[in-house]
Amino acid sequence: MTERLAKGERLSKAEFIDLIVNREKVDREKLYALSRQFQHEHFGKRVFLRGLIEFSSFCRNDCLYCGIRRSNCNAERYRLTKEQIMSACELGHELGYRTFVLQGGEDMHYTGEVLEDIVRSIKKSFPDCAITLSVGERSTEDYKRWFDAGADRYLLRHETANEEHYKKLHPADLSLKHRMECLYELKDIGYQVGAGFMVGSPFQTPETLADDLLFLKDLEPHMIGIGPFIPHHDTPFANEKAGTVELTLFLLAIIRIMLPDVLLPATTALGTVAADGREQGILAGANVLMPNLSPKDVRGKYLLYDNKICTGEEAAECKACLDNRIKRIGYETVTDRGDSPRIRK
Ligand code: 5AD
Ligand code: FES
Repeated sequence: MTERLAKGERLSKAEFIDLIVNREKVDREKLYALSRQFQHEHFGKRVFLRGLIEFSSFCRNDCLYCGIRRSNCNAERYRLTKEQIMSACELGHELGYRTFVLQGGEDMHYTGEVLEDIVRSIKKSFPDCAITLSVGERSTEDYKRWFDAGADRYLLRHETANEEHYKKLHPADLSLKHRMECLYELKDIGYQVGAGFMVGSPFQTPETLADDLLFLKDLEPHMIGIGPFIPHHDTPFANEKAGTVELTLFLLAIIRIMLPDVLLPATTALGTVAADGREQGILAGANVLMPNLSPKDVRGKYLLYDNKICTGEEAAECKACLDNRIKRIGYETVTDRGDSPRIRK
């Protein structure tokens, strides 16, 4: 089946389910060799670094899995000012980063206008940099406004492409339909778009994963973020099991083979469930890392899940650490914009 995927053929839902259920019959070394072949073809042995700025831990939503959900009154809340965000970019720029990812909860303090001003200022000071926004479901008008101000990319994980599963992970005021509408809209506006999901989230099954893979094949996002679900102690899913490295690596490889030129991060969550999780992710086909650029004093407050790594390190330490880790597996980190091969803006 992986041979057919590699030829660009579309597998049926039943075939994807079968692939996932019977994955222990797939020779892993062969699978990763194939996914790396595609990775090398499109990107060489280069791993793109993105500077991640977690600029607000306020969120209006109440997703059951997330540590910064609205009803978690133990979560420490903070907002970075425009000046703090600009200094983080300045530090990042000195370290070589040419992509800044602005991620936050759905915090309406950052109105369309406020965030537009921040995007414009970053673009003005750092015209050679790409800006990625990751601030959730917002109005079409806001999405357009930020794009026109110079934002290049947008990350909005779909979380699960299965309607029933979506309802078990989210409160009733959120819908998969609207999430998907946002993703198609962002793509229409001209953003490089990232979708994705957690691996091993509660109630996930081979069927819901098959729906995820089919949805990704249809949407053809420029980026796909997947990482293991990790329970957060102050959420309704506190006692649920974390997703595994094994299934995450398998899915990274399948996604690389299915969408060969996609930008695919080895996530911090993967590095949290295993010490060498990110390196293993690269060797399974991932080609992006998103080290933290947030000021050190707020890092320990953006906690979506327990035991998150890199909350005590400085930005420069993470950069050096990653350069080393990536070199050791025979790859090199690169800090250029690293746009999707499918787009020229
Ligand atoms: N474990 C792993 N990933 C999580 N996210 C949110 N909560 C968790 C968790 N407990 C992911 C979601 C979200 C992204 C920013 O972080 O997929 O889209
Ligand atoms: Fe942050 Fe290694 S990447 S310490």
